[in-house]
Amino acid sequence: MYIIKQLIILLLLNNSLGLKMQEKFVWNLIDYNWETPAQQQSAIESGNFIPENNIILGIEKWKNKLFITVPRWRLGVASSLNYITLPNEEMSPKFNPYPSWNDNLLSNVVSESTVVSTYRVQADECDRLWVLDNGFENLLEKPTQIIPSSVVIFDLNTDTLIRRYDIPLKQSKSDTFLPNIVVDSSKSNCENTFAYLVDAGSYGIIVYSFKENRSWRIEHNFFHMDPFVGGFKVSDSIFSWRDGIFGIALGHQDHHQRRDVYFHTLIGSKEFLVSNTILQNESYALGTDPVYEEFKIIGDRGVNGHSTTEVFDPSLNVIYFTQISKNGIGCWNINTPLNNNTTPLIDSDPIKLVMPVDIKLDEDGFIWLISNRMPQYVLKQLNYEDYNYRVLSGRASDLIKGTVCDGN
Ligand SMILES: *[C@@H]1O[C@H](CO)[C@@H](O)[C@H](O)[C@H]1NC(C)=O
Ligand SMILES: *[C@@H]1O[C@H](CO)[C@@H](O)[C@H](O)[C@H]1NC(C)=O
Ligand SMILES: *[C@@H]1O[C@H](CO)[C@@H](O)[C@H](O)[C@H]1NC(C)=O
Repeated sequence: MYIIKQLIILLLLNNSLGLKMQEKFVWNLIDYNWETPAQQQSAIESGNFIPENNIILGIEKWKNKLFITVPRWRLGVASSLNYITLPNEEMSPKFNPYPSWNDNLLSNVVSESTVVSTYRVQADECDRLWVLDNGFENLLEKPTQIIPSSVVIFDLNTDTLIRRYDIPLKQSKSDTFLPNIVVDSSKSNCENTFAYLVDAGSYGIIVYSFKENRSWRIEHNFFHMDPFVGGFKVSDSIFSWRDGIFGIALGHQDHHQRRDVYFHTLIGSKEFLVSNTILQNESYALGTDPVYEEFKIIGDRGVNGHSTTEVFDPSLNVIYFTQISKNGIGCWNINTPLNNNTTPLIDSDPIKLVMPVDIKLDEDGFIWLISNRMPQYVLKQLNYEDYNYRVLSGRASDLIKGTVCDGN
């Protein structure tokens, strides 16, 4: 009897300890800081704002701004690139369009700094915000290309546009889908920055050189989805998506700005590696210099290892990655072999972590994560009485404590 009691208490404890990260913000529906109530009312009446169609996806923290993106997957997204200020006492803060309302309302004339639709964004070490603008509205129902897909770079100190670069059409393919951008920069040489644009739909990386203001496309068989783990499960529904290369994490940088680039496909459970010197050398893209074997398989996370994005923590030598089939986050210490025993979950929750879609690490060592119930959004099954969208955060060193990721 005593043992049973102990067991029950243990189980209860385990339950209440379900989520280790803190829920920073939760929303059932997204709303914005409108200039006037009348502006909001007219946006609703005209169909420029349909609250149920606004879902959060990408996250990035820079100083006291927390950027959150809202992709234009359906009509009525008021603004795709937004931020909230930190600290923020509100549980469901309203979004501020970035850099301004005028730049985001599609009913206005589209300006150079208008971001039509973005999924994920990154702030670099040189205080620039890098935005991959897909340029599409209503992607899920009736895709309309408003502007070409482009890289849009803002100066975060002045909130002004630095540059917009249109991705040349010949670097896209018919199934091109650009869900992620990872920026390879160094504070000591801000000109020499490269952005890796992930084409999950037709399996490529478009490499953009800031210095040269041009880009090239790289393809490799490891960028393809793994059909043998092609069905993944989220909240009892099976999805057979076909996304290839998706998450990228940048390893330690040496004094020549060389570093390892870790990457994985969303449909798949393996992790791969290539040197940034290969991605940055266009002769590989041109096919004149076959370097196929420079891309390495480093291991497999095992069953249900599907992941969207990942990020490297240079102070702990650990990569954190989302685990969409396990409602959680995993870790891997780069100084250990990568397999199912070295990639444990560091947090998970069957309600609060349904579809963790983006993960970042801030300069204070805190993980920032978005979960958004995307599968139910796609199936139009969200219950708007419930909290559907979440921003969660936790100190990375606490989250990995006691796991195989700690202490290497
Ligand atoms: C970069 O290239 C784009 C082409 O997309 C061009 O419009 C722009 O003027 C160039 N910017 C700079 C700073 O060279
Ligand atoms: C690119 O690779 C080729 C062949 O390996 C090499 O000759 C060339 O120096 C490389 N370019 C750069 C900029 O590293
Ligand atoms: C890890 O993979 C091995 C080999 O495939 C398997 O035998 C083992 O059960 C797996 N362990 C876990 C914890 O999944």
